[in-house]
Amino acid sequence: MKNFSKLALMALFIVSGLFVVSCNDDDDDRVAEPASLYAKLGGTTLVSDPNNPSQMIEQGRLSYRSVVDSTITLIVADVLDGAEGNLGEHFAPILSEALSGNTTNVAILSKNLTDFFSANTGGGATNVYTGMNMVAAHDPAQNPRMGRKSNDANYDKFIGYVGAAAGLNGVTDPELIGEVVAVLESLRAPIVQE
Ligand code: HEM
Repeated sequence: MKNFSKLALMALFIVSGLFVVSCNDDDDDRVAEPASLYAKLGGTTLVSDPNNPSQMIEQGRLSYRSVVDSTITLIVADVLDGAEGNLGEHFAPILSEALSGNTTNVAILSKNLTDFFSANTGGGATNVYTGMNMVAAHDPAQNPRMGRKSNDANYDKFIGYVGAAAGLNGVTDPELIGEVVAVLESLRAPIVQE
């Protein structure tokens, strides 16, 4: 073989070698994607559902549902407390219904909030949010179940309850709480309408 064709062959091997290396790169050297908040809260690992032990639930979804339900309990206590600046007017439609024994819509709210947080923080296909968008859900003209528009102080109070509810459910890592608060803050503009 002439020197020239040997060189050409060598070059071909080197180039195709590089190509193979770069094709395989994905498996080895890919920069790891940051874990989603859903994953950090337990992700898709299936566990027995404490509310219904014959069923399984993803741990990420269970974490959100537990925090949501504790938040609802704290809001009910806030409303019943009747103190100045409470969230009574906002939640009046749903609470008067629940207090008279009809808890169907509280259960729907719990499911919708759980779907909303799970679907928006990396939960997979098992978590689909089908409720209203955040502007419509918090505008009494579009959602009569929202008793009154909320302002910044109401919103701060709501975030405080979510933080307290997270603590009650063992979510205490400050970094994780910081991520949850960041998600909540990103929704302030569409929700605060007064
Ligand atoms: C991070 C903050 C918040 C998020 C992510 C959020 C999310 C949601 C979602 C997903 C729904 C369900 C909508 C539907 O069923 O179609 C909802 C409903 C509602 N939200 Fe919020 N919300 C937040 C803050 C607030 C605040 C600050 C208030 C009042 C002070 C409030 C009061 C309500 C009320 C009264 C409803 C209607 C409940 C019902 O239909 O039964 N929310 N919210």
